[in-house]
Amino acid sequence: SKLEPCQIIIFGGTGDLTHRKLIPAFYNLLEEDLLPKEFTIVATGRCIDNREEYLKSLYNSLQKFVSREIKEEVWNSLKGRIYYKCFDILEENGCKGLKELLDSLDNKYNIPNRRIFYLAVPPRFFGTIVTNLDRYKLLDFSGDSWSRVVIEKPFGYDLESACDLNKQITKVFPEENIYRIDHYLGKEMLQSMMVIRFANLLFEPLWNNKYIDNIQIISNEKVGVGDRGAYYEKSGALRDMVQNHMLQILSLTAMEPPADMTTESIRDEKIKVLKSLSKFDNVDEYVVRGQYEAGKVDKEEVIAYHDEKNVSSDSKTETYVALKTFVNNLRWSGVPFYIKTGKRLSTKLTEVIVEFKSDFHPAYQNNSTNLSPNLLVIKIQPEEGVYFQFNAKEPGSKEKIVPVKMDFCQNCQVGFNSPEAYERLMHSVIIGDQTLFTRWDEVEYSWDFVDQIADFWSENQKNLPKYPAGSNGPKEADDLLIEDGRKWWDV
Ligand code: BG6
Repeated sequence: SKLEPCQIIIFGGTGDLTHRKLIPAFYNLLEEDLLPKEFTIVATGRCIDNREEYLKSLYNSLQKFVSREIKEEVWNSLKGRIYYKCFDILEENGCKGLKELLDSLDNKYNIPNRRIFYLAVPPRFFGTIVTNLDRYKLLDFSGDSWSRVVIEKPFGYDLESACDLNKQITKVFPEENIYRIDHYLGKEMLQSMMVIRFANLLFEPLWNNKYIDNIQIISNEKVGVGDRGAYYEKSGALRDMVQNHMLQILSLTAMEPPADMTTESIRDEKIKVLKSLSKFDNVDEYVVRGQYEAGKVDKEEVIAYHDEKNVSSDSKTETYVALKTFVNNLRWSGVPFYIKTGKRLSTKLTEVIVEFKSDFHPAYQNNSTNLSPNLLVIKIQPEEGVYFQFNAKEPGSKEKIVPVKMDFCQNCQVGFNSPEAYERLMHSVIIGDQTLFTRWDEVEYSWDFVDQIADFWSENQKNLPKYPAGSNGPKEADDLLIEDGRKWWDV
Protein backbone atom coordinates (compact mmCIF):
# COMPACT_ATOMS: atom_id res chain seq x y z
CA SER A 1 0.00 0.00 0.00
CA LYS A 2 1.87 3.00 -1.31
CA LEU A 3 1.12 6.53 -2.33
CA GLU A 4 2.42 6.27 -5.87
CA PRO A 5 2.23 9.22 -8.24
CA CYS A 6 -0.87 8.88 -10.37
CA GLN A 7 -3.50 10.68 -12.38
CA ILE A 8 -7.14 10.65 -11.36
CA ILE A 9 -9.55 11.04 -14.22
CA ILE A 10 -13.14 11.90 -13.33
CA PHE A 11 -15.91 11.31 -15.84
CA GLY A 12 -18.79 13.47 -14.72
CA GLY A 13 -16.57 16.33 -13.59
CA THR A 14 -19.38 18.89 -13.54
CA GLY A 15 -21.75 16.57 -11.71
CA ASP A 16 -23.15 16.63 -8.25
CA LEU A 17 -20.93 13.89 -6.85
CA THR A 18 -17.75 15.63 -7.96
CA HIS A 19 -18.83 18.84 -6.30
CA ARG A 20 -20.27 17.43 -3.13
CA LYS A 21 -18.01 14.50 -2.38
CA LEU A 22 -14.99 13.99 -4.62
CA ILE A 23 -13.29 17.38 -4.71
CA PRO A 24 -13.96 17.93 -0.96
CA ALA A 25 -12.40 14.51 -0.34
CA PHE A 26 -9.29 15.40 -2.36
CA TYR A 27 -9.07 18.73 -0.59
CA ASN A 28 -9.12 17.05 2.83
CA LEU A 29 -6.63 14.40 1.73
CA LEU A 30 -4.25 17.06 0.49
CA GLU A 31 -4.55 19.03 3.70
CA GLU A 32 -3.71 15.88 5.64
CA ASP A 33 -0.82 15.14 3.35
CA LEU A 34 -2.42 11.91 2.15
CA LEU A 35 -2.05 12.43 -1.59
CA PRO A 36 0.98 11.31 -3.61
CA LYS A 37 3.75 13.84 -4.26
CA GLU A 38 2.82 13.96 -7.91
CA PHE A 39 -0.77 13.71 -8.98
CA THR A 40 -3.29 15.32 -11.28
CA ILE A 41 -7.06 15.42 -11.27
CA VAL A 42 -8.35 15.50 -14.80
CA ALA A 43 -12.06 16.21 -14.87
CA THR A 44 -14.11 15.81 -17.96
CA GLY A 45 -17.80 16.33 -18.55
CA ARG A 46 -20.13 18.97 -19.95
CA CYS A 47 -18.48 21.41 -22.32
CA ILE A 48 -17.65 24.51 -20.39
CA ASP A 49 -13.96 24.41 -21.34
CA ASN A 50 -13.07 27.28 -19.14
CA ARG A 51 -10.72 26.12 -16.44
CA GLU A 52 -10.97 29.28 -14.36
CA GLU A 53 -14.74 29.12 -14.24
CA TYR A 54 -14.66 25.45 -13.38
CA LEU A 55 -12.19 26.01 -10.56
CA LYS A 56 -14.34 28.79 -9.21
CA SER A 57 -17.38 26.54 -9.09
CA LEU A 58 -15.35 23.89 -7.27
CA TYR A 59 -14.15 26.45 -4.77
CA ASN A 60 -17.74 27.43 -4.03
CA SER A 61 -18.60 23.80 -3.44
CA LEU A 62 -15.65 23.37 -1.10
CA GLN A 63 -16.95 26.27 0.98
CA LYS A 64 -20.29 24.51 1.22
CA PHE A 65 -19.29 20.90 1.67
CA VAL A 66 -16.03 20.90 3.62
CA SER A 67 -16.77 21.20 7.31
CA ARG A 68 -13.51 22.93 8.21
CA GLU A 69 -12.24 26.28 7.07
CA ILE A 70 -10.70 26.24 3.61
CA LYS A 71 -7.00 27.07 3.72
CA GLU A 72 -6.00 29.17 0.73
CA GLU A 73 -2.57 27.58 0.41
CA VAL A 74 -4.05 24.08 0.28
CA TRP A 75 -6.65 25.11 -2.28
CA ASN A 76 -3.99 26.82 -4.38
CA SER A 77 -1.86 23.75 -4.54
CA LEU A 78 -4.88 21.53 -5.25
CA LYS A 79 -6.20 23.74 -7.97
CA GLY A 80 -2.83 23.79 -9.71
CA ARG A 81 -3.32 20.07 -10.26
CA ILE A 82 -6.90 20.15 -11.51
CA TYR A 83 -7.43 20.11 -15.26
CA TYR A 84 -10.79 20.43 -16.92
CA LYS A 85 -11.56 19.66 -20.51
CA CYS A 86 -14.61 18.31 -22.23
CA PHE A 87 -14.02 15.20 -24.28
CA ASP A 88 -16.76 13.08 -25.68
CA ILE A 89 -15.41 9.78 -24.48
CA LEU A 90 -18.13 7.96 -26.38
CA GLU A 91 -16.45 9.14 -29.61
CA GLU A 92 -13.09 8.27 -31.13
CA ASN A 93 -11.89 11.87 -31.22
CA GLY A 94 -12.75 12.44 -27.59
CA CYS A 95 -10.79 9.36 -26.54
CA LYS A 96 -7.77 10.38 -28.56
CA GLY A 97 -7.92 13.91 -27.15
CA LEU A 98 -8.04 12.61 -23.59
CA LYS A 99 -5.18 10.23 -24.26
CA GLU A 100 -3.02 13.08 -25.56
CA LEU A 101 -3.74 15.19 -22.51
CA LEU A 102 -2.99 12.33 -20.10
CA ASP A 103 0.21 11.40 -21.91
CA SER A 104 1.42 14.97 -21.81
CA LEU A 105 0.63 15.25 -18.09
CA ASP A 106 2.46 11.96 -17.50
CA ASN A 107 5.50 13.60 -19.07
CA LYS A 108 5.10 16.88 -17.27
CA TYR A 109 4.91 15.29 -13.80
CA ASN A 110 6.96 12.22 -14.55
CA ILE A 111 4.15 9.78 -13.77
CA PRO A 112 4.63 6.33 -15.32
CA ASN A 113 1.10 5.83 -16.68
CA ARG A 114 -0.71 5.14 -13.42
CA ARG A 115 -4.34 6.08 -13.80
CA ILE A 116 -7.52 5.96 -11.80
CA PHE A 117 -10.65 6.31 -13.89
CA TYR A 118 -13.60 7.42 -11.82
CA LEU A 119 -16.97 6.85 -13.48
CA ALA A 120 -19.27 9.39 -11.85
CA VAL A 121 -21.74 9.24 -14.73
CA PRO A 122 -25.09 7.53 -15.26
CA PRO A 123 -24.59 3.75 -15.40
CA ARG A 124 -25.69 3.43 -19.02
CA PHE A 125 -22.29 4.89 -19.94
CA PHE A 126 -20.15 2.57 -17.80
CA GLY A 127 -19.75 -0.15 -20.41
CA THR A 128 -18.92 2.08 -23.37
CA ILE A 129 -16.45 4.20 -21.44
CA VAL A 130 -14.53 1.17 -20.22
CA THR A 131 -14.51 -0.39 -23.68
CA ASN A 132 -13.22 2.84 -25.22
CA LEU A 133 -10.48 3.26 -22.63
CA ASP A 134 -9.15 -0.07 -23.81
CA ARG A 135 -9.75 0.41 -27.51
CA TYR A 136 -7.95 3.75 -27.65
CA LYS A 137 -5.09 2.56 -25.43
CA LEU A 138 -5.50 4.74 -22.38
CA LEU A 139 -4.75 1.79 -20.10
CA ASP A 140 -1.50 0.15 -19.13
CA PHE A 141 -1.07 -2.85 -16.85
CA SER A 142 2.63 -3.46 -17.49
CA GLY A 143 5.67 -2.90 -15.27
CA ASP A 144 5.34 0.09 -12.94
CA SER A 145 2.16 1.23 -14.63
CA TRP A 146 -1.34 0.44 -13.50
CA SER A 147 -4.91 1.37 -14.36
CA ARG A 148 -7.82 1.20 -11.94
CA VAL A 149 -11.48 1.89 -12.45
CA VAL A 150 -13.89 3.19 -9.82
CA ILE A 151 -17.54 2.51 -10.46
CA GLU A 152 -20.33 4.37 -8.76
CA LYS A 153 -23.63 2.74 -8.00
CA PRO A 154 -25.98 1.45 -9.17
CA PHE A 155 -24.12 -1.60 -10.39
CA GLY A 156 -26.89 -2.90 -12.61
CA TYR A 157 -30.65 -2.92 -12.24
CA ASP A 158 -31.00 -6.60 -11.42
CA LEU A 159 -28.83 -9.70 -11.47
CA GLU A 160 -28.97 -10.06 -15.23
CA SER A 161 -27.99 -6.50 -16.07
CA ALA A 162 -25.32 -6.53 -13.35
CA CYS A 163 -23.83 -9.65 -14.96
CA ASP A 164 -23.81 -7.99 -18.38
CA LEU A 165 -22.14 -4.90 -17.00
CA ASN A 166 -19.60 -6.96 -15.15
CA LYS A 167 -18.74 -8.89 -18.29
CA GLN A 168 -18.03 -5.66 -20.14
CA ILE A 169 -15.84 -4.33 -17.38
CA THR A 170 -13.89 -7.51 -16.67
CA LYS A 171 -13.11 -7.86 -20.35
CA VAL A 172 -10.91 -4.81 -19.87
CA PHE A 173 -10.00 -4.62 -16.16
CA PRO A 174 -8.91 -7.52 -13.95
CA GLU A 175 -11.03 -7.86 -10.78
CA GLU A 176 -8.17 -6.55 -8.61
CA ASN A 177 -8.26 -3.25 -10.50
CA ILE A 178 -12.03 -2.74 -10.16
CA TYR A 179 -13.31 -0.61 -7.28
CA ARG A 180 -17.09 -0.86 -6.91
CA ILE A 181 -18.24 1.89 -4.59
CA ASP A 182 -20.52 1.34 -1.66
CA HIS A 183 -19.93 4.52 0.28
CA TYR A 184 -21.34 3.01 3.48
CA LEU A 185 -18.17 0.94 3.73
CA GLY A 186 -16.29 4.22 4.12
CA LYS A 187 -18.26 5.15 7.23
CA GLU A 188 -16.22 5.11 10.42
CA MET A 189 -18.42 2.87 12.55
CA LEU A 190 -18.79 0.26 9.85
CA GLN A 191 -15.03 0.04 9.67
CA SER A 192 -15.13 -0.27 13.42
CA MET A 193 -17.60 -3.15 13.33
CA MET A 194 -14.97 -5.87 13.10
CA VAL A 195 -12.91 -4.29 15.87
CA ILE A 196 -15.91 -4.09 18.17
CA ARG A 197 -16.80 -7.70 17.45
CA PHE A 198 -13.39 -9.34 17.36
CA ALA A 199 -11.16 -7.17 19.58
CA ASN A 200 -13.38 -7.35 22.65
CA LEU A 201 -13.93 -10.29 24.90
CA LEU A 202 -17.34 -9.08 25.92
CA PHE A 203 -19.29 -9.27 22.69
CA GLU A 204 -18.07 -12.11 20.50
CA PRO A 205 -18.99 -14.98 22.88
CA LEU A 206 -22.57 -13.67 22.94
CA TRP A 207 -22.78 -12.94 19.21
CA ASN A 208 -24.99 -15.87 18.23
CA ASN A 209 -28.46 -17.39 18.43
CA LYS A 210 -27.94 -18.54 22.00
CA TYR A 211 -27.93 -15.02 23.37
CA ILE A 212 -29.24 -12.74 20.65
CA ASP A 213 -32.97 -12.43 20.09
CA ASN A 214 -32.91 -10.35 16.92
CA ILE A 215 -30.87 -7.78 15.03
CA GLN A 216 -32.26 -4.59 13.51
CA ILE A 217 -30.47 -2.72 10.75
CA ILE A 218 -32.00 0.67 10.25
CA SER A 219 -31.30 3.61 8.00
CA ASN A 220 -33.84 6.40 8.26
CA GLU A 221 -33.61 9.50 6.13
CA LYS A 222 -35.38 12.83 6.33
CA VAL A 223 -34.66 13.82 2.75
CA GLY A 224 -37.00 13.05 -0.12
CA VAL A 225 -35.91 12.14 -3.63
CA GLY A 226 -35.06 15.73 -4.48
CA ASP A 227 -34.24 16.08 -8.16
CA ARG A 228 -33.31 12.43 -8.59
CA GLY A 229 -36.87 11.44 -9.47
CA ALA A 230 -36.00 10.00 -12.88
CA TYR A 231 -33.38 7.69 -11.41
CA TYR A 232 -35.40 6.83 -8.31
CA GLU A 233 -38.54 5.89 -10.23
CA LYS A 234 -36.62 2.98 -11.72
CA SER A 235 -34.86 2.10 -8.54
CA GLY A 236 -36.93 2.59 -5.39
CA ALA A 237 -35.67 2.03 -1.88
CA LEU A 238 -35.05 -1.68 -2.43
CA ARG A 239 -32.48 -1.17 -5.18
CA ASP A 240 -31.25 2.19 -3.91
CA MET A 241 -30.48 1.20 -0.32
CA VAL A 242 -31.14 -2.48 0.45
CA GLN A 243 -29.25 -4.16 -2.39
CA ASN A 244 -26.06 -2.35 -1.44
CA HIS A 245 -25.80 -0.47 1.86
CA MET A 246 -28.16 -2.49 4.03
CA LEU A 247 -26.87 -5.87 2.89
CA GLN A 248 -23.30 -4.71 3.37
CA ILE A 249 -24.08 -3.72 6.95
CA LEU A 250 -25.81 -7.05 7.46
CA SER A 251 -22.87 -9.05 6.17
CA LEU A 252 -20.38 -7.20 8.39
CA THR A 253 -22.65 -7.71 11.39
CA ALA A 254 -23.27 -11.41 10.81
CA MET A 255 -20.04 -12.73 9.27
CA GLU A 256 -17.74 -15.26 10.91
CA PRO A 257 -14.31 -14.08 12.05
CA PRO A 258 -12.06 -14.03 8.98
CA ALA A 259 -8.87 -16.11 8.94
CA ASP A 260 -6.87 -12.90 8.78
CA MET A 261 -7.57 -9.26 8.04
CA THR A 262 -6.68 -9.34 4.37
CA THR A 263 -9.17 -8.00 1.86
CA GLU A 264 -9.97 -11.37 0.34
CA SER A 265 -10.41 -13.18 3.66
CA ILE A 266 -12.87 -10.54 4.81
CA ARG A 267 -14.76 -10.62 1.54
CA ASP A 268 -14.89 -14.41 1.65
CA GLU A 269 -16.67 -14.29 4.99
CA LYS A 270 -19.09 -11.57 3.92
CA ILE A 271 -20.04 -13.61 0.89
CA LYS A 272 -20.95 -16.60 3.02
CA VAL A 273 -23.52 -14.47 4.84
CA LEU A 274 -25.11 -13.27 1.62
CA LYS A 275 -25.24 -16.83 0.33
CA SER A 276 -26.96 -17.96 3.52
CA LEU A 277 -29.82 -15.46 3.41
CA SER A 278 -33.17 -17.18 3.40
CA LYS A 279 -35.29 -17.43 0.28
CA PHE A 280 -38.77 -16.06 0.78
CA ASP A 281 -41.66 -18.45 0.38
CA ASN A 282 -44.11 -15.56 0.49
CA VAL A 283 -42.63 -12.09 0.01
CA ASP A 284 -45.71 -10.33 1.40
CA GLU A 285 -45.23 -12.01 4.74
CA TYR A 286 -41.65 -10.85 5.08
CA VAL A 287 -41.37 -7.56 3.23
CA VAL A 288 -43.30 -4.32 3.63
CA ARG A 289 -42.99 -1.35 1.33
CA GLY A 290 -44.34 2.16 1.52
CA GLN A 291 -44.43 5.50 -0.24
CA TYR A 292 -44.47 8.94 1.33
CA GLU A 293 -47.39 11.29 1.15
CA ALA A 294 -47.24 15.03 1.77
CA GLY A 295 -46.44 15.98 5.33
CA LYS A 296 -44.13 17.93 7.56
CA VAL A 297 -40.46 17.23 8.17
CA ASP A 298 -38.87 19.44 10.81
CA LYS A 299 -41.92 21.68 10.68
CA GLU A 300 -41.50 22.23 6.97
CA GLU A 301 -44.28 21.27 4.56
CA VAL A 302 -43.07 18.80 1.96
CA ILE A 303 -44.83 17.30 -1.03
CA ALA A 304 -45.83 13.71 -1.69
CA TYR A 305 -43.51 11.41 -3.61
CA HIS A 306 -45.93 11.18 -6.53
CA ASP A 307 -45.80 14.97 -6.89
CA GLU A 308 -42.01 15.13 -7.04
CA LYS A 309 -40.25 16.20 -10.24
CA ASN A 310 -39.95 13.43 -12.85
CA VAL A 311 -42.14 11.09 -10.85
CA SER A 312 -45.32 9.65 -12.29
CA SER A 313 -48.49 10.74 -10.49
CA ASP A 314 -49.59 7.12 -10.06
CA SER A 315 -46.11 5.87 -9.26
CA LYS A 316 -45.84 2.48 -7.59
CA THR A 317 -42.24 3.05 -6.57
CA GLU A 318 -41.45 2.36 -2.93
CA THR A 319 -39.64 4.98 -0.86
CA TYR A 320 -39.63 2.71 2.15
CA VAL A 321 -38.81 -0.95 2.77
CA ALA A 322 -38.92 -3.03 5.93
CA LEU A 323 -38.13 -6.72 5.84
CA LYS A 324 -37.35 -9.77 7.88
CA THR A 325 -34.78 -12.32 6.83
CA PHE A 326 -32.66 -15.09 8.33
CA VAL A 327 -29.03 -16.04 7.97
CA ASN A 328 -29.23 -19.78 7.66
CA ASN A 329 -26.12 -21.03 9.38
CA LEU A 330 -25.21 -22.49 12.76
CA ARG A 331 -24.51 -19.17 14.43
CA TRP A 332 -27.70 -17.44 13.41
CA SER A 333 -30.29 -20.13 12.97
CA GLY A 334 -33.65 -18.78 14.17
CA VAL A 335 -32.52 -15.17 14.72
CA PRO A 336 -34.48 -12.70 12.61
CA PHE A 337 -32.60 -9.84 10.96
CA TYR A 338 -34.96 -6.92 10.46
CA ILE A 339 -33.99 -4.31 7.92
CA LYS A 340 -35.71 -1.01 7.42
CA THR A 341 -34.96 2.09 5.42
CA GLY A 342 -36.99 4.96 4.04
CA LYS A 343 -37.07 8.55 2.92
CA ARG A 344 -38.98 11.45 4.46
CA LEU A 345 -39.04 9.91 7.91
CA SER A 346 -38.95 11.82 11.18
CA THR A 347 -35.27 11.21 11.86
CA LYS A 348 -31.96 10.86 10.09
CA LEU A 349 -30.49 7.82 11.76
CA THR A 350 -28.44 4.80 10.78
CA GLU A 351 -27.78 2.10 13.33
CA VAL A 352 -27.46 -1.59 14.05
CA ILE A 353 -29.37 -2.71 17.12
CA VAL A 354 -28.54 -6.01 18.73
CA GLU A 355 -31.33 -7.12 21.03
CA PHE A 356 -30.26 -9.79 23.50
CA LYS A 357 -32.59 -12.44 24.87
CA SER A 358 -34.63 -11.67 27.93
CA ASP A 359 -33.52 -14.69 29.93
CA PHE A 360 -33.40 -13.21 33.41
CA HIS A 361 -33.42 -14.76 36.85
CA PRO A 362 -36.94 -16.12 37.43
CA ALA A 363 -37.35 -13.77 40.36
CA TYR A 364 -37.09 -10.85 37.97
CA GLN A 365 -39.03 -12.48 35.19
CA ASN A 366 -42.17 -12.53 37.24
CA ASN A 367 -41.65 -8.97 38.21
CA SER A 368 -44.40 -6.72 36.98
CA THR A 369 -41.82 -4.13 35.97
CA ASN A 370 -41.57 -5.69 32.52
CA LEU A 371 -37.80 -5.70 32.17
CA SER A 372 -36.16 -4.31 29.08
CA PRO A 373 -33.77 -6.54 27.18
CA ASN A 374 -30.10 -5.66 26.89
CA LEU A 375 -29.41 -3.69 23.75
CA LEU A 376 -26.13 -3.05 22.03
CA VAL A 377 -26.43 -0.29 19.46
CA ILE A 378 -23.76 0.49 16.89
CA LYS A 379 -24.47 4.11 15.99
CA ILE A 380 -23.37 4.79 12.46
CA GLN A 381 -24.81 8.27 11.89
CA PRO A 382 -25.38 11.10 12.61
CA GLU A 383 -23.84 10.21 15.96
CA GLU A 384 -21.00 7.71 15.74
CA GLY A 385 -20.42 5.38 18.63
CA VAL A 386 -21.71 2.49 20.67
CA TYR A 387 -24.51 2.40 23.15
CA PHE A 388 -25.26 -0.35 25.63
CA GLN A 389 -28.49 -0.61 27.58
CA PHE A 390 -28.79 -2.79 30.65
CA ASN A 391 -30.91 -3.04 33.80
CA ALA A 392 -30.21 -1.61 37.22
CA LYS A 393 -32.13 -0.83 40.34
CA GLU A 394 -33.63 2.60 40.38
CA PRO A 395 -31.72 4.59 42.99
CA GLY A 396 -33.76 5.24 46.09
CA SER A 397 -36.48 2.74 45.28
CA LYS A 398 -36.58 -0.65 46.91
CA GLU A 399 -36.99 -2.91 43.96
CA LYS A 400 -37.89 -0.94 40.89
CA ILE A 401 -35.70 -1.90 37.97
CA VAL A 402 -34.97 0.53 35.18
CA PRO A 403 -32.95 0.42 31.98
CA VAL A 404 -29.77 2.49 32.14
CA LYS A 405 -27.20 3.14 29.45
CA MET A 406 -23.51 3.32 28.76
CA ASP A 407 -23.07 5.58 25.82
CA PHE A 408 -19.87 6.12 23.89
CA CYS A 409 -20.04 8.91 21.36
CA GLN A 410 -16.99 9.07 19.19
CA ASN A 411 -17.78 12.17 17.17
CA CYS A 412 -18.98 14.22 20.15
CA GLN A 413 -15.44 14.88 21.29
CA VAL A 414 -14.54 18.49 20.78
CA GLY A 415 -12.32 19.08 17.78
CA PHE A 416 -12.87 15.58 16.46
CA ASN A 417 -13.70 15.34 12.80
CA SER A 418 -14.39 11.92 11.36
CA PRO A 419 -13.02 11.60 7.87
CA GLU A 420 -15.75 11.65 5.27
CA ALA A 421 -16.56 8.28 3.72
CA TYR A 422 -15.34 9.41 0.30
CA GLU A 423 -12.07 10.63 1.72
CA ARG A 424 -11.34 7.18 3.07
CA LEU A 425 -12.47 5.53 -0.14
CA MET A 426 -10.39 7.75 -2.43
CA HIS A 427 -7.34 7.15 -0.33
CA SER A 428 -7.94 3.40 -0.54
CA VAL A 429 -8.10 3.51 -4.34
CA ILE A 430 -4.87 5.48 -4.53
CA ILE A 431 -2.99 3.03 -2.34
CA GLY A 432 -4.64 0.06 -4.06
CA ASP A 433 -6.60 -1.32 -1.10
CA GLN A 434 -9.90 -2.95 -2.12
CA THR A 435 -11.17 -3.83 1.35
CA LEU A 436 -13.80 -1.08 1.40
CA PHE A 437 -15.14 -1.97 -2.04
CA THR A 438 -17.46 -4.73 -3.14
CA ARG A 439 -16.20 -7.78 -4.96
CA TRP A 440 -18.25 -9.05 -7.88
CA ASP A 441 -19.71 -12.03 -6.04
CA GLU A 442 -21.01 -9.74 -3.28
CA VAL A 443 -22.88 -7.76 -5.90
CA GLU A 444 -24.09 -10.96 -7.49
CA TYR A 445 -25.53 -12.51 -4.33
CA SER A 446 -27.14 -9.31 -3.14
CA TRP A 447 -28.93 -8.92 -6.46
CA ASP A 448 -30.02 -12.50 -6.18
CA PHE A 449 -31.61 -11.70 -2.81
CA VAL A 450 -33.20 -8.46 -3.99
CA ASP A 451 -34.49 -9.83 -7.29
CA GLN A 452 -36.84 -12.28 -5.59
CA ILE A 453 -38.55 -9.31 -3.89
CA ALA A 454 -38.51 -7.05 -6.95
CA ASP A 455 -39.90 -9.82 -9.16
CA PHE A 456 -42.71 -10.50 -6.73
CA TRP A 457 -43.60 -6.82 -6.52
CA SER A 458 -43.62 -6.34 -10.25
CA GLU A 459 -46.33 -8.99 -10.43
CA ASN A 460 -48.22 -7.90 -7.32
CA GLN A 461 -48.73 -4.16 -7.24
CA LYS A 462 -51.39 -4.09 -4.55
CA ASN A 463 -49.71 -3.60 -1.23
CA LEU A 464 -48.13 -0.21 -1.29
CA PRO A 465 -49.15 1.52 1.93
CA LYS A 466 -48.68 5.28 2.11
CA TYR A 467 -47.14 7.13 5.05
CA PRO A 468 -47.12 10.84 5.77
CA ALA A 469 -43.77 12.58 5.35
CA GLY A 470 -42.24 13.18 8.75
CA SER A 471 -43.76 10.04 10.28
CA ASN A 472 -42.09 6.77 11.25
CA GLY A 473 -43.22 4.91 8.15
CA PRO A 474 -46.26 2.73 7.48
CA LYS A 475 -48.00 0.89 10.29
CA GLU A 476 -47.50 -2.37 8.39
CA ALA A 477 -43.79 -2.18 9.20
CA ASP A 478 -44.57 -2.07 12.91
CA ASP A 479 -46.94 -5.01 12.49
CA LEU A 480 -44.12 -7.05 10.95
CA LEU A 481 -42.44 -7.03 14.37
CA ILE A 482 -45.55 -6.95 16.54
CA GLU A 483 -46.60 -10.26 14.98
CA ASP A 484 -43.31 -11.67 16.24
CA GLY A 485 -43.83 -10.14 19.69
CA ARG A 486 -41.13 -7.54 19.09
CA LYS A 487 -40.72 -3.87 18.30
CA TRP A 488 -38.41 -1.51 16.45
CA TRP A 489 -36.00 0.14 18.85
CA ASP A 490 -35.33 3.33 16.92
CA VAL A 491 -38.62 5.01 17.82
C1 BG6 B 1 -27.23 6.73 -1.65
C2 BG6 B 1 -28.65 6.68 -2.15
O1 BG6 B 1 -26.53 5.59 -2.08
O2 BG6 B 1 -27.24 6.78 -0.24
C3 BG6 B 1 -29.45 7.86 -1.64
O3 BG6 B 1 -28.66 6.66 -3.56
C4 BG6 B 1 -29.33 7.96 -0.15
O4 BG6 B 1 -30.79 7.78 -2.03
C5 BG6 B 1 -27.89 7.92 0.30
O5 BG6 B 1 -29.92 9.19 0.26
C6 BG6 B 1 -27.76 7.87 1.80
O6 BG6 B 1 -26.43 8.06 2.15
P1 BG6 B 1 -26.03 8.69 3.57
O7 BG6 B 1 -24.54 8.66 3.57
O8 BG6 B 1 -26.62 10.06 3.61
O9 BG6 B 1 -26.65 7.79 4.59
